[in-house]
Amino acid sequence: MAFDFSGQTVLVTGASRGIGEQIARDVADGGGTLLVTSTEASHKLEDRFGVATHHFPIDFRHEADTQHFLAELRAMDRVDVCINNAGVARHKLMEDTTVEDWDDTATVNVKVPYLITQAVAEPMKRHEYGRIVNIASIWGHMTKPTRSAYTAAKHGIRGVTVGTAIELAPFNILVNTVSPGFTRTDMFKKNYSPAEQTQAASRVPLKRLAEPQEISVAVLFLASKLNTYITGQSLLVDGGYSIG
Ligand SMILES: NC(=O)c1ccc[n+]([C@@H]2O[C@H](COP(=O)([O-])OP(=O)(O)OC[C@H]3O[C@@H](n4cnc5c(N)ncnc54)[C@H](OP(=O)(O)O)[C@@H]3O)[C@@H](O)[C@H]2O)c1
Repeated sequence: MAFDFSGQTVLVTGASRGIGEQIARDVADGGGTLLVTSTEASHKLEDRFGVATHHFPIDFRHEADTQHFLAELRAMDRVDVCINNAGVARHKLMEDTTVEDWDDTATVNVKVPYLITQAVAEPMKRHEYGRIVNIASIWGHMTKPTRSAYTAAKHGIRGVTVGTAIELAPFNILVNTVSPGFTRTDMFKKNYSPAEQTQAASRVPLKRLAEPQEISVAVLFLASKLNTYITGQSLLVDGGYSIG
């Protein structure tokens, strides 16, 4: 099922792989124009999705590049939809977490999505229309050892959602969170050994991992014109993990 994004300009951060790449593909299927980010210019995302695509190669840890990107966003004629998807997860015990780990996790998962929201709010307000979806995690609702910095960041992005949703609602800009569970992407494969992957899947009530498409469909419903009255919410897409 393709949601209709024809005539809309859709920003997807972290669109080079995983969940973000799937979201960008699904937006393209729906006829949207894409603005996408990844860290490498060599990703050649302009040619990947089969629709008009502008690729911003930026590492959000780099302040000057990020500020340049934000200025470009503010000046855009239109940005109808923004998906703050780019994220980093380092599974480390609190005692092993460095200041650099903390800064990178907080910057990419919370600070830059907040700054992007400030920037895209300008063109969205001019058109009195906007849909923003922030990607959190089950670890923004619950936690376990080795997740302290990531859990803090993902709780933080849920705070960004509600804090900005309340201010942007009068402009018909709806802001929501999607919190994925274990999803088959590079991030998951990097952080979980094959044995841990099997164990994680067995603990999900649905007894399997999520595929990126199953996250994308929830994100794109909230980001679509079909969503007219949901704002400030967090939707867990986790196969029932958080209720088990
Ligand atoms: N997979 C899961 O099980 C899972 C579960 C819950 C939540 N999530 C969340 O879902 C989102 C997508 O995760 P994923 O699994 O698709 O991850 P992924 O496969 O690791 O992809 C991460 C994306 O973020 C970009 N990114 C990473 N570091 C960046 C930085 N410093 N600056 C700018 N962009 C950066 C990457 O760009 P490059 O390719 O250029 O590095 C890539 O496009 C994240 O917010 C993650 O926390 C994932």
